[in-house]
Amino acid sequence: MPHPAPTPRTIHRSGPLTGRVSVPGDKSISHRALMLSALAVGTSRIEGLLEGEDVLATAAAMRQMGAEITRDEDGVWHVHGVGVGGLMQPAQALEMGNSGTSTRLLMGLIASHAITATLTGDASLSARPMARVIEPLSQMGADITASPGGRLPLMVRGMNPAVPISYTLPVASAQVKSAILLAGLNTPGITRVIEPVATRDHSERMLAGFGADLTVEQTAEGRVISLVGEAELKPQHIVVPGDPSSAAFLVVAATIVPGSDILVTNVGLNPTRAGIFTALRLMGADITEQDARTVGGEPVADLRVRHAPLHAIEVPPELAPSMIDEYPVLFVAAACATGRTVARGAHELRVKESDRIAAMVAALGAIGVATEEFDDGLAITGSGGAPLPGGGTIASLLDHRIAMSLAVAAMVCAGPVTIDDVAPVATSYPIFFATLDTLKETTELAAS
Ligand code: S3P
Repeated sequence: MPHPAPTPRTIHRSGPLTGRVSVPGDKSISHRALMLSALAVGTSRIEGLLEGEDVLATAAAMRQMGAEITRDEDGVWHVHGVGVGGLMQPAQALEMGNSGTSTRLLMGLIASHAITATLTGDASLSARPMARVIEPLSQMGADITASPGGRLPLMVRGMNPAVPISYTLPVASAQVKSAILLAGLNTPGITRVIEPVATRDHSERMLAGFGADLTVEQTAEGRVISLVGEAELKPQHIVVPGDPSSAAFLVVAATIVPGSDILVTNVGLNPTRAGIFTALRLMGADITEQDARTVGGEPVADLRVRHAPLHAIEVPPELAPSMIDEYPVLFVAAACATGRTVARGAHELRVKESDRIAAMVAALGAIGVATEEFDDGLAITGSGGAPLPGGGTIASLLDHRIAMSLAVAAMVCAGPVTIDDVAPVATSYPIFFATLDTLKETTELAAS
């Protein structure tokens, strides 16, 4: 897939951040809302859908397979589903862009339908491993032909009826779990996934919300999720909570920029996602929850964040599944802390939109932060709250979270920092820079 021209951006040291902002809809929940609505019988309504490129790739694919998806002027999405088993043969290849979640979850859906689909993606996605989903979906009967190394482009020839499996996850991956459960929707019998380590549970919550017969048990082997196949899903009205992964950038920015005091509203705090806030609090961050409530079956609160001095920690490895996407921005917080932060047990960072361990070693190095690289993590020597040197150019490597993490770091750098390409930010948080500007302007207005 051709890439658009890179969009470089230079970021200067920031004054205090103040004011109140909300974050866009949760990316994981948005993908699932579109997919399950497209499989329900009737019309679902989705409010707060993330309108980032990754989610739009899912919407386009579901349309190609027969769902009618529209957006009204108020930003509410309407999805007229085809029913489980009703997906249609797409006429063209499904373009997944940068989105691993779209790819892996859709592979699951296609696997148990009598259709054949080719999935393609950008350079980042085409370097990511797909064997982790090919293996269980092949056991269910799908015939998958991948590019060398189990990569994209690949072709999935679905099997109908597929064979139910009982599968223990070899890697802690919500995408693999969800791919199997989505395949199980159109498979006779009971499909079972055993996860020794719990991962984000949005699929389970939403499947139950759509009326699927799903049970979750905690056993000695781990969490066992059982889904009764040939399900009939009932259309829903879904309200997508704000994305904690997006909120994390604002929370770290306010924590490290002296004088900041912000309110981030509507932040999803599902315990399987909120590890970053636990880790930051262990470092001394001042984050308080206000107006705790439930939105769309998920816990949500507003977060008040005030600047606070941070100290180094050993990041508890058991937090890894609940903050896997937040390590890059946690490393930025660590770069401002007193002492040496060590994060291990996060080998999965090597296979995200970029190799996030190598990418952060290079990026932090370019702004003058000392790191030590491990196979499964990183140690970062913090500045003790002093400005970071900055002055370098960062490669974002088609990885939205590397670009946003370094944009946050740049706010406490003495010298300006150039990010070679911030276009990838649009995959998950299109209004990221506008939101940062709002927080800076609130302070400037108050001062004038
Ligand atoms: C996601 C699961 C995680 C995460 C990704 C979104 C999901 O990936 O990194 O951004 O929506 O299921 P893994 O399942 O590969 O850990």
